[in-house]
Formats: sequence, C-alpha cells, structure tokens
Amino acid sequence: MTGLGRLLSIGPTDNTSRERTPRQPLQLIPEGARESFVPYSRVQPALLSAEADMTRLAADLPRAAGEAIEVSGQLTDEFGRPLRGVLLEIWNANTFGRYTHKEDASGLPLDPNFLGLGRVLTDQDGKYRFLTIRPGAYLARPDIGRWRPKHIHMSVRGGSSRLVTQMYFANDPHNDGDPMRILMGDAFKHNVAGEYDAGQPDLAAGYRFDIVVGGRNATFFENDL
Ligand SMILES: [Fe+2]
Repeated sequence: MTGLGRLLSIGPTDNTSRERTPRQPLQLIPEGARESFVPYSRVQPALLSAEADMTRLAADLPRAAGEAIEVSGQLTDEFGRPLRGVLLEIWNANTFGRYTHKEDASGLPLDPNFLGLGRVLTDQDGKYRFLTIRPGAYLARPDIGRWRPKHIHMSVRGGSSRLVTQMYFANDPHNDGDPMRILMGDAFKHNVAGEYDAGQPDLAAGYRFDIVVGGRNATFFENDL
C-alpha cells in the first residue's frame, strides 16, 4: 500500500468508501503553491440577522411549510472554553425531505419559501441560535431502501479549518439504520440534540446542540472519517 493515498474507513453499509479512495499515489503540491489553495480570511464576514432565520426568505415573505424550530447551543474547545466569533453554516432539507440543490433528484416537493441555508456567528460566550424548519427524513438510496433520518448539517469555520457535522433528533426511527450513525459508534450521543420548550407559540420546539471541538466529549465531525 506504500505510496497510495490514505484508505478511508469502510462502514458496514457504506459501499462508497472504495470509490472515494484514490487509486493513484498522491502528489505533493509544492509548498509555495500549497499556500494559495487555502481559503483563509482574518476578517469574519458581515452577516445579516436574517441569515439566522431560515424559516422565511425575508422578513416580509411567508413562513416556509412545516414546523419552525429553534436550535441553540454553545461552541467550545475541549476544555470548555468558548469559541467566539466563529462562523456556523447550516443547511437542511425542507419539511418534505428535499434539498434545494440541483443534485437532489428525489422528486420530493420543493418549498418556494425555504432555501435551507443559514449562517450565524457565535457570540462572546461561544453561543449561537438560529431558526429553521424541522427537516423531513428522506430516502437517500431508493435502490436499497436506505433512509437518512432527520438531521441538520453544520459546518464550523475557524481560520483555514472547516469542520462539518450533523445534528440528529432523538427517537427518529431511521437513526439506528443510518450509515453515518453506524460509523460514529458511541460518539453518536454527542450529536443528538436535547429538546426543550422554545417558549414561543410559533416555534414547535427548541433543540440544544452544543458543539465541542476536540477532547473526549468531542462532537463527531465528518472530517474524522
Ligand atoms: Fe443531509
């Protein structure tokens, strides 16, 4: 195997690992050129407050179909120190289980009032909060009947690094058979949000999802695969 690219871990129901593993030896990019490949910005983007509310495209437009939910939590390092001013990017399927993405060929209904993309910065305590629509589960592989449970994708960007994770909902009947959940093993518990009463009549529920970067209680990031 010497000279080949790293072998990606193969999960019990994941037959794409082989396809994603490079067949040719990797080539080292010259150091000078490597620098220019890294998207790095010292300046955090200016965000619109509306980007934290994914339930409508603009304040004066109708609310998307489905149940509006609040998601909140704290971003910390492995020692519990808050990670401030970090960009969280969020994306999730609509209430029907459809992404607003050209590669989603499910044929499920699109919602003209839901884009499914949001951004928010953590505050001085590392805390964040956003609103979205509770996503629908979706049949990811109709050929083998494989479902993805309800989940929300999130990326955490700091400097030149980007960590990507997924928040799960407790008691989703599709959780147990989810290929990602199987790969996560015991770490799955770190990625299941805790439900709470959001305290607003127009919000169906709130979900607490603390994100821990590093350490024994770390959130599971797809970068770990
Ligand atoms: Fe997804």
